[in-house]
Amino acid sequence: MKNLWSGRFTKGMTSYVAEYNASINFDCIMYEYDIEGSIAHVTMLAKQNIISESEKDEIIRGLLIVKDRIKNGEVEFSVDDEDIHMTVEKLLFEEVGTVGKKLHTARSRNDQNDLDEKLYLRHETKQTLALLKDLLEVLLKKAEAGIYDIIPGFTHTQHAQPITVGFYYMCYFQKFKRDVERFLSSYERLDYNPLGACALAGTTLPIDRAETTKLMGFAHITENALDTVSDRDYIVEYLFCASMCMTHLSRFADEYVMYNSQEFGFIDIDDSFCTGSSIMPQKKNPDIAELVRGKVGRVVGHLMGLLMVLKGTPMSFNKDFQEDKEPLFDAVNTINQTLFIFARMLENTTFKMENIKKQLEKGFINATDIAEFLVCNNIPFRDAHEMVGSMVKYCEQQNKTFADLTHDDLKTLHFPVEIDSLDIFTNEKCVAQRKSYGGTSPEDVKRQIQNGYDFIASL
Ligand code: ARG
Repeated sequence: MKNLWSGRFTKGMTSYVAEYNASINFDCIMYEYDIEGSIAHVTMLAKQNIISESEKDEIIRGLLIVKDRIKNGEVEFSVDDEDIHMTVEKLLFEEVGTVGKKLHTARSRNDQNDLDEKLYLRHETKQTLALLKDLLEVLLKKAEAGIYDIIPGFTHTQHAQPITVGFYYMCYFQKFKRDVERFLSSYERLDYNPLGACALAGTTLPIDRAETTKLMGFAHITENALDTVSDRDYIVEYLFCASMCMTHLSRFADEYVMYNSQEFGFIDIDDSFCTGSSIMPQKKNPDIAELVRGKVGRVVGHLMGLLMVLKGTPMSFNKDFQEDKEPLFDAVNTINQTLFIFARMLENTTFKMENIKKQLEKGFINATDIAEFLVCNNIPFRDAHEMVGSMVKYCEQQNKTFADLTHDDLKTLHFPVEIDSLDIFTNEKCVAQRKSYGGTSPEDVKRQIQNGYDFIASL
């Protein structure tokens, strides 16, 4: 088989070498971007009189046929063609003959490959952002519905202070909002046209890079060709943004797994997101939440993997970079699928408020509120903390809750404020009074939700 570079060679690759060397089996998914880039390229070449108008028209006609042939599944990819760039070029020769040989003028696979990946990632980053936006919208709806529903807030997985379902969901809203901002920021650095960097140092031919930039809707042109063909930062950045977002999803999923356990019994995940056991008839397992938690591993792995591929590679292009594709494609598929399915699971999960109420009665979740009540009565906070701590010890010995303490109990404890009972410190009151900016009070959560809607409207 005659290669595109056969001029310099006396023999071709053995089949197992070709197999090892090729990327066509995975980079074939970029064919539409490869052809889009080629069309912009020849349009510019004709405008610059590097090729004629009729040659350009003929090449574009051929490229569109090639696109259809691939789309319709008529093309069988072969490792002999190595990658998508050479496959498209070969198919073009089949359609238009010798004029096809002008396509690769003033271009290298180095800038071409960068271009394909950037066009692909521009599209996929928009997809990821749309899915994140959908998730944010679901979170706002869930938060609105749960503004008054009280659940325990935890630190160290211990009851800490009462919070609301609305507040809890707005916590995740903030995390995913930052993910949106991160993806938007990485998009800015992605939005530079690499075409025209050629192999590594530009070209002697009078190309117009501003023209292809305009044709493909890039915001900027890359500044230095040597940097352009050696740059994979934009892929690393996407992988980091995806890793961070998957980490958020994983923590969320982990809480769902825990809240779904018999020990907690806090939530009900709809049957359609769970599986049964092949042996234990009673089981309803939160498989989807567990899978989300598990899938973060591969995305973070891809980030680490690509950083290791890049470290120590000299300027400029090295074939090592071909290893950027499978991790990227897999990360894109993983995060996009996961965001979609997680939003649907969220819509189909409810907090079991009756069960949660029982859990809330157990303990001393309002201890900080009593200490702050003492602060309002001029007791220094450290003394108030000590005092309420000893009340907890007393209650545990007597098997009582704060609300059970009688006036006599309070006297025995030297409670420094004249009060009949502590039963006024209801969870509703504790929550309502946490009105500080960013706190759990319904009043503040409404503010947070409003800002959330404003953020979504700004996207
Ligand atoms: N298949 C290659 C890649 O994935 C395309 C670039 C090849 N360039 C080269 N000079 N061998 O990066």
